[in-house]
Amino acid sequence: MEGKQARTPLIAGNWKMHKTVAEAVELVEGLLKADLPAPVEVLVCPPFTALSEVAKIVAGTKIKLGAQNLHWEKQGAYTGEVSPVMLAELGCEYVIIGHSERRQYFGETDEAVNRKVKAALEHGIKPIICVGESLAEREAGVTEELIQRQVRAAIAGLSAAELASIVIAYEPIWAIGTGKTADGPEANRIGRLIRETIAAVDRAAGEVVRILYGGSVKPENFAEFAAQSDIDGALVGGASLKADQFAAIVRVAVV
Ligand code: PGA
Repeated sequence: MEGKQARTPLIAGNWKMHKTVAEAVELVEGLLKADLPAPVEVLVCPPFTALSEVAKIVAGTKIKLGAQNLHWEKQGAYTGEVSPVMLAELGCEYVIIGHSERRQYFGETDEAVNRKVKAALEHGIKPIICVGESLAEREAGVTEELIQRQVRAAIAGLSAAELASIVIAYEPIWAIGTGKTADGPEANRIGRLIRETIAAVDRAAGEVVRILYGGSVKPENFAEFAAQSDIDGALVGGASLKADQFAAIVRVAVV
């Protein structure tokens, strides 16, 4: 097997700043009751406060656990931050890094993203690195250049083995939470560009890295993305907050 067939699809739910502990428990229990097809990796990323309870519920099930952010240091005087050691202890297999909301509202730079990516990998947590252009950048014709810069900066200094374990989420900022999506072929074109950017550093890693599409993904629109040669799943925000909708997206991922 090679190409897309060799890559297991990943559907990741980014719950953002939603769900109290009680609500998170209800959502994940709903998901466990849903029919989730075997050949898809299913991941939920609750807020930090709910990680511990959700971890207990998903232990030994098909659903994997991820966080939405981390700090790069193991411990220290960093008020309000959460370290990779703490996330690994809870059983987080993945962490979302460099989401556009973090870049936009919390000043996260390409350099910070790179430090976080390295810290996650050092602790055995797979980073889901988010990249994407704003509407102004798209209209100015700088999308390709920006995406390549974000990807190159995020992966700087990684070994070939580390590179092979990362996930990249292409999320055009203008498509997040807006109901607008890129069309399938256009998302695939950028997915291909991301893959080639990684392959330029390590050819084998370029083949195995999974690339997700994100931005207003719903059960009704995901088939168009799932069918693309260089898209291996989705990072889902709004539609991941309802068990039936998220499960429906997981089912669409099997193509
Ligand atoms: P959305 O969010 O699905 O609500 O557009 C996606 C994301 O920001 O990860």
